[in-house]
Amino acid sequence: MDQQDLGTDIEKVLVAEAQIKHRLTELAADIDRDYAGEDLLIVGVLKGAVMVMADLARALHSPVRMDWMAVSSYGSGTKSSGVVRILKDLDTDLKDQHVLIVEDIIDSGLTLSWLLANLKSRGAASVEICTMLRKPEAAKVEIDVRYVGFEVPNEFVVGYGLDYAEKYRNVPFVATLAPHVYS
Ligand code: IMP
Ligand code: MG
Repeated sequence: MDQQDLGTDIEKVLVAEAQIKHRLTELAADIDRDYAGEDLLIVGVLKGAVMVMADLARALHSPVRMDWMAVSSYGSGTKSSGVVRILKDLDTDLKDQHVLIVEDIIDSGLTLSWLLANLKSRGAASVEICTMLRKPEAAKVEIDVRYVGFEVPNEFVVGYGLDYAEKYRNVPFVATLAPHVYS
């Protein structure tokens, strides 16, 4: 899928496909170095993190384990509700495991600070965070995010896993939508 397929739906491309690919290679190199000689479990947060999980995992040079969690903090709209629910839990016991949470985006940081505390309480040896995108609001919460792909402005974005009303997740770049899409 490319920009032409989307007609007038896209307002502005914020992060191009090639930029994402290049940045993932850099992040993977950092992760390979930081976890050298350790077993690593990467945990993807559904559904938004599917693209970054698939691409990041394949850019790594060591055989990691992969597991998935689904939590909800947003409805079908564009505002964070602050309420986090587990919709699907991990299959893996985290006791003494090195865990890397992989996220699509950190906006308010509410979801992630909750998730971080939740996974740490299960006895993991370490829990770190990798996010493809981070918005400025995230600076207000005290969470240490070790790996960040790109900083994006405080606008609602879609693509590379991120949706608006469950659509546009399969857009291979990150973009804002034209106003007519919301009306
Ligand atoms: P937070 O709890 O406010 O940090 O938001 C966490 C989740 O909200 C992310 O993992 C996304 O699923 C969703 N989200 C936040 N900002 C956006 C956006 O701009 N577009 C699409 N989804 C978003
Ligand atoms: Mg998400």
